[in-house]
Amino acid sequence: MEHVPVLLEATMEMLQPAPGRTVIDATFGRGGHSRAFLARGARVVALDVDPEAEKEAGRLGAEVGPEKFRFYRMSFGDLPRLTGAEGPADAILLDLGISSPQVDQAGRGFSFQQSGPLDMRMNPDSGVTAETLVNELGEPELRNLLRQGGEDRDPGKIARAIVRARPLHTTVDLANAVVRVTRAPRPGAKHPATRTFMALRRAVNREGESLTEVLAAIPRALRPGGRMAVLTYHSIEDRAVKNWIREHSEEEKRQPGMAFGHANPERWVRSLGEAVPTESEISANPRARSARLRGAERLAGEGS
Ligand SMILES: C[S@@+](CC[C@H](N)C(=O)[O-])C[C@H]1O[C@@H](n2cnc3c(N)ncnc32)[C@H](O)[C@@H]1O
Repeated sequence: MEHVPVLLEATMEMLQPAPGRTVIDATFGRGGHSRAFLARGARVVALDVDPEAEKEAGRLGAEVGPEKFRFYRMSFGDLPRLTGAEGPADAILLDLGISSPQVDQAGRGFSFQQSGPLDMRMNPDSGVTAETLVNELGEPELRNLLRQGGEDRDPGKIARAIVRARPLHTTVDLANAVVRVTRAPRPGAKHPATRTFMALRRAVNREGESLTEVLAAIPRALRPGGRMAVLTYHSIEDRAVKNWIREHSEEEKRQPGMAFGHANPERWVRSLGEAVPTESEISANPRARSARLRGAERLAGEGS
């Protein structure tokens, strides 16, 4: 399936790409958002860890030229390295999660619909696979991973079922192990292994850590007056972004009752609010269902 960019208009409104502006698309994917930034005259610096994204970026680069578009195959967690080379940007987009083609290729191991190796690495050239985690972690570690990464309702039960079903090699092996202790998948309902798969994917790709790293790097990667937007697909990520914006926004400064010696004294953004997809976007693109966009603007002269 082709990847349809989510909340495209709301993202453009928030980030205001225009001629003379540079946008960092930190999760290039298949370039849906990047193309829209370019169409509005902005210059785009794009990142992604996925080799398929890199191929697509090569095609886009050949179309529009290096003046308008550059791609770096690297994690957005390494944003500080990039800012050294590219300077602060006018806007930054993070569209978290996976792209539709990543899910659809059974060989990448993200899907429980089709059998594939339990891989789940967005960057297949490095890191630990989901197969290693499900077969080698101790039951308590597995339980913690499931609890933190996907909010499985009964992580203990699922961790036990996984340990009992070892060795697991394919996505279907894992889905079956979960189904055995939960319920049979029903058409139209969320697959019972959805949260388990998400927790593993987040652990394999260090998604929580990368999000923390990139948020910490954004102050230096954005020029004063520059804007950031983050698209999330799960409440864990949305909460992290919401709290981060709240902790760093000037509004918070005026609220009474803030603990003295708060860990994050820098108040350098203004919240730009949030957006969710309309029913018609969701029916045209079911992947947009759980999406939420949040944005913030860097205040002039603070936090640098
Ligand atoms: C939801 S897709 C982005 C789709 C894109 N906005 C589009 O319209 O085509 C998320 C992308 O982020 C990439 N990604 C995930 N973690 C990353 C990281 N730490 N650094 C860079 N890219 C990452 C994935 O490989 C995937 O291609």
